Amino acid sequence: MSNCIIAPSVLAADFSNLGRAVAEVDESGAEWVHLDVMDGSFVPGITFGAKAVADLRSHSRAVFDVHLMTDNPENLVAAFAEAGADYITFHIEACVHANRLAQSIRALGKKPGVSLVPSTPLSALEEILPFVDLVLVMTVNPGFGGQSMIPACLDKIRRLAAARKERGLDFLIAADGGINEATAQVARDASVDVLIAGSAFFGAADRKAAVRRLRGGA
Ligand code: DX5
Ligand code: ZN
Repeated sequence: MSNCIIAPSVLAADFSNLGRAVAEVDESGAEWVHLDVMDGSFVPGITFGAKAVADLRSHSRAVFDVHLMTDNPENLVAAFAEAGADYITFHIEACVHANRLAQSIRALGKKPGVSLVPSTPLSALEEILPFVDLVLVMTVNPGFGGQSMIPACLDKIRRLAAARKERGLDFLIAADGGINEATAQVARDASVDVLIAGSAFFGAADRKAAVRRLRGGA
């Protein structure tokens, strides 16, 4: 079995009981909780803000991985840092001053992550890679759970892992969107470190088993 980090995405959980949902992540053996923040502008949907994350903090000991699918992420990072986020990931497409933003997340004592949508080339991250702790590769177009993975995105993971090695860098690589037992295996083969899964986790009756299978166990 692999030692991939599993990050269930609460986007697929029952929003009337998110406290229970994050507690279930702890009980399942998954290490991270993935929290999708949508602003109705960068993506069409709207989910939740920093107050929800702050209220959820006491319900789980897992690492809180906040994925800002928002415009103007620089206006939001302080509030999510205060709320108890551990990783704060912004989209390169939503940010001109990515370097300044990554440094300001570090200055808040948090780990900066950068994400890219399927149509953004990996070259857009070339200059920011030394300044982040996480690269979140979107393997679907962001905004909705339950979509099928776009297989071409896996090649980005492979190339990113090669670039990391070649440049001697030290960030985690996450895959987000359409991760299930089958696609998880392909992503693991491509050297992914973090598997983000919404439907494959919250849609499973046995969540411990779902985590085990995402790691490649029986
Ligand atoms: C999609 C979100 C994902 C989403 C994944 O825009 O960023 O985190 O929750 O959902 P699944 O695993 O159902 O594709
Ligand atoms: Zn996400």
